[in-house]
Amino acid sequence: MTTNGYDALPGMDAPELGPTGRPLREFPVPAPLADHGPARIISMCNQKGGVGKTTTSINLAAALAEYGRRVLAVDFDPQGALSAGLGVQNYDVTTIYDLLLNPKLDPHEAIQPTSVEGLDVIPANIDLSAAEVHLVSEVAREQILARVLRRVADDYDLILIDCQPSLGLLTVNALTAAHGVLIPLESEYFALRGVALLKETIDKVQERLNPSLELDGILITMFDSRTLHAREVLERVVDAFDSQVLDTVIRRTVKFPDASVAGTPVTQFAPNHAAAEAYRTLARELVVRGAVA
Ligand SMILES: Nc1ncnc2c1ncn2[C@@H]1O[C@H](COP(=O)(O)OP(=O)(O)OP(=O)(O)O)[C@@H](O)[C@H]1O
Ligand SMILES: [Mg+2]
Repeated sequence: MTTNGYDALPGMDAPELGPTGRPLREFPVPAPLADHGPARIISMCNQKGGVGKTTTSINLAAALAEYGRRVLAVDFDPQGALSAGLGVQNYDVTTIYDLLLNPKLDPHEAIQPTSVEGLDVIPANIDLSAAEVHLVSEVAREQILARVLRRVADDYDLILIDCQPSLGLLTVNALTAAHGVLIPLESEYFALRGVALLKETIDKVQERLNPSLELDGILITMFDSRTLHAREVLERVVDAFDSQVLDTVIRRTVKFPDASVAGTPVTQFAPNHAAAEAYRTLARELVVRGAVA
């Protein structure tokens, strides 16, 4: 018998399939780390707005911190949504903008703790919107963020950069600083269109600036399994990107906007809700895939 391309052996039940059409896998809880650092750096990118970049940055970071990883989340969007979502001050404090413009500043000065043990933040605010203009005339303007993060990388296991919805110089800086990219993708029809353009940008950065940059995965967000449309989109994404699509799928639930209003990750706001468990599963899958220590 064949179920979605997977053959069951005679006498055995067909494996239970996950939303991606692959057999459901268990991802084990990762063993504690004996030592910490140097960090692997992951950029959360999609030039399309509102696809779950910030929500994923916040909750993946919190879930990995729960598993004992030391995580630094970098707000790299002038909207400052990551800073707000983690409840950290982003006015009258040193921000990522200050670090980009003033190489004499010690990046440690900008780091703030959060309510989650093991999770720190470098905040951003609207000042960052002026950064592209200021950085355009700098020497090695694409490498400025990489230089900043190099100075704090030894203190962390993972640095997660929450990009703004654009493919401009800031995002190129994030891709140049990173070892890997995660692409959150909303499960709706037009979401696929932008991915080709994003992959072109990733390829260019790989060729010219950061040869070791890897695509760590495409994460389906805001999935609603009750609609045929969402299931069809997911099928097309898996057809197009195959094993690059992560097994973990994030479903649509109002718990996410509720948690952002509360300024806390969903893993703390509703620790027993499926939404929190989904990001823990993502954290474990990324450890199994080798994207995170
Ligand atoms: N799985 C989900 N279910 C329901 N709502 C969600 C989910 N993920 C994110 N949201 C909500 O959707 C909105 C956009 O999400 P988010 O801010 O994470 O996207 P983004 O890609 O960072 O957006 P931007 O491009 O503006 O930075 C937010 O209000 C968020 O609370
Ligand atoms: Mg965002």
